[in-house]
Amino acid sequence: MPLLRLPGLIDPHVHLREPGLTHKEDLFSGTCAALAGGFTTILDMPNSRPPTSTPERLEEKARLAAAKAVCDVGFFVGATNDTPPEVAATAGPQACGLKIYVSETFGSLRIAELGTLAGYFAAWRGPGPIAVHAEDMMLATCLALAELYDQRLHVVHVSLASEIALIRRAKARGVRVTCEVTPHHLYLTEADAARLGAFGQMRPALATEADRQALWDHLDSIDCIATDHAPHTAAEKEGENPPPGVPGLETSLPLMLLVVAGGRLTLDDLVAKMHTNPRRIYGLPEQPDTYIEVDADARYDFPAQGWLTRPGWSPFAGMPARGRVLRVVLRGREVFRDGRVLAGPGAGRVVAPTP
Ligand code: NCD
Ligand code: ZN
Repeated sequence: MPLLRLPGLIDPHVHLREPGLTHKEDLFSGTCAALAGGFTTILDMPNSRPPTSTPERLEEKARLAAAKAVCDVGFFVGATNDTPPEVAATAGPQACGLKIYVSETFGSLRIAELGTLAGYFAAWRGPGPIAVHAEDMMLATCLALAELYDQRLHVVHVSLASEIALIRRAKARGVRVTCEVTPHHLYLTEADAARLGAFGQMRPALATEADRQALWDHLDSIDCIATDHAPHTAAEKEGENPPPGVPGLETSLPLMLLVVAGGRLTLDDLVAKMHTNPRRIYGLPEQPDTYIEVDADARYDFPAQGWLTRPGWSPFAGMPARGRVLRVVLRGREVFRDGRVLAGPGAGRVVAPTP
């Protein structure tokens, strides 16, 4: 296939680590990795240090991003155990959504009690959805709360057969729920986790072959592909208490183009899951004159190094890839070409849901 032109991709699940954890990634390095991966908009998760839990912290992040980002960035406000839910709700108009961690995660944001969780479901006023990290039984809790409090729910990184089954049932009954899956849960299983050691540890953990198969069998029920780009340094991964999480911004599109090449998805499906659906779910503004150019025929194995993400490693090193991002144009400006970021810090904008 000759040159392929696609809309700027949107990754609705990225950990940029600024403020507080910039030795892992920052707003510049992370958005450079995004452009290299074909993303022109990414949504940043709230588990930075301090966490993005109030309108003030959101404004602080927005100031930093306006000065440093090379692609557009939106932010989640995060639920915590010690901020009143009403405070997070006042950040609604500037946030792309409310993120609630209900299952085990990296950082301190896991909500521990039903009362607190229900308080957030009661207080949130949108306009973005409530995005939940809710594994296994916790997914049923969040689906019930979304119904009881009439909230739009987005389930992040679905990984189990039982979870996709529950989401399909909820969708069939008209529950306002959408979901995303990561490329690593589509491609890797617990067998890879054993091979990769700490470099294959993330939340949710890599699951069984049957779980992985269920995700492939129900790709039509999965609204978005999201990387859950969660950078940690190699030294941290090799250390005593390795933190969970793997980088993913630069490997997502080639892995999904491999799915298209294998006939399991059409190119239109890919654009829906990596652009149109995340844009609709989070109400993101249009980026005029913005597109990416991809050599869709390029076949190669992912390298072990040469990544723009700060940690400089990938769990997919050595695995087959398809397609290479040659060029990214953002609002009429060439911002990435042949492996190099051409835009300077501040070329990206801060995005919020359009009312
Ligand atoms: C994420 C991180 O490192 O911030 N880690 C992960 O394994 N996915 C946190 C999270 O998304 O749960
Ligand atoms: Zn995450």
